[in-house]
Amino acid sequence: MTREGERALLGGVSSLAPLAHDDARPEGSPVATVVFLHGFPLDRRLWRRQLASLPRAGVRVVALDLPGFGGARTRARPPSIEAMASEVAATIDTLGLSRPIVCGLSMGGYVALALARGWSDRIGGLVLADTRASADSEAARAGREANIERARSQGASAVFASMIPNVFASDARREVVDELAQIAASQSVEGVVAALEAMRDRPDLTGSLPALRLPTTVVVGARDVLTPPSEAESMARAIPGARAVIVPEAAHFPNVDNPGAFDAALLDAARR
Ligand code: MLT
Repeated sequence: MTREGERALLGGVSSLAPLAHDDARPEGSPVATVVFLHGFPLDRRLWRRQLASLPRAGVRVVALDLPGFGGARTRARPPSIEAMASEVAATIDTLGLSRPIVCGLSMGGYVALALARGWSDRIGGLVLADTRASADSEAARAGREANIERARSQGASAVFASMIPNVFASDARREVVDELAQIAASQSVEGVVAALEAMRDRPDLTGSLPALRLPTTVVVGARDVLTPPSEAESMARAIPGARAVIVPEAAHFPNVDNPGAFDAALLDAARR
């Protein structure tokens, strides 16, 4: 997509400053660069462990705040997953990244798929973690409305609190739950509502999976009930050449539940 097209998508935003990000580089030339896109309602701090570990294995890690989260404002009206992808593409351009691997988790995976569809020339590979290609069901859309109401009346932390039974295993470590709850609590109501609207209205991209021509790894926590292994396996079957990796002892956030196994899957994708 052209810069003009991207600006039109963003409703006349005239300057596309890069999204807020952390950039952790290895010593020497990187074996690969991976752009990480976080899940909802979090920010780039979701990737704290990978920012520390992967550069030691030679990988440059660029973790972005998606529009509306952390240090990145929501600029598109109406908000959409495609507009988020447009801002990620502009950030890849502005940072001069040459066809990085893009790893998106859950909501970040929706953005990664939109990026692969509209801006495939900007990326060299995909890691889709704990996500899905399908649109929201009627029940899920009703859940978005309830969460929009919850965010407006009780704030961002109440939205995350309502997700906890679905995103963590019942025996999840308390400090991990608290770490992500604190990140969620710091998000703005405006950003959380915009993302809920964008996810509610996102199109079904299932039909576009067979046309993907990027090396793809689909990763999922073995105990993820929100986007379960069966979903990951069917996405991997639909994408030519893709493979599925199931991360043991992990639920919806395998990069924090079992970072060693998640990083191994990432490094394998980077080396391929
Ligand atoms: C996420 O982890 O990003 C969300 O669970 C995605 C969603 O609500 O669809």
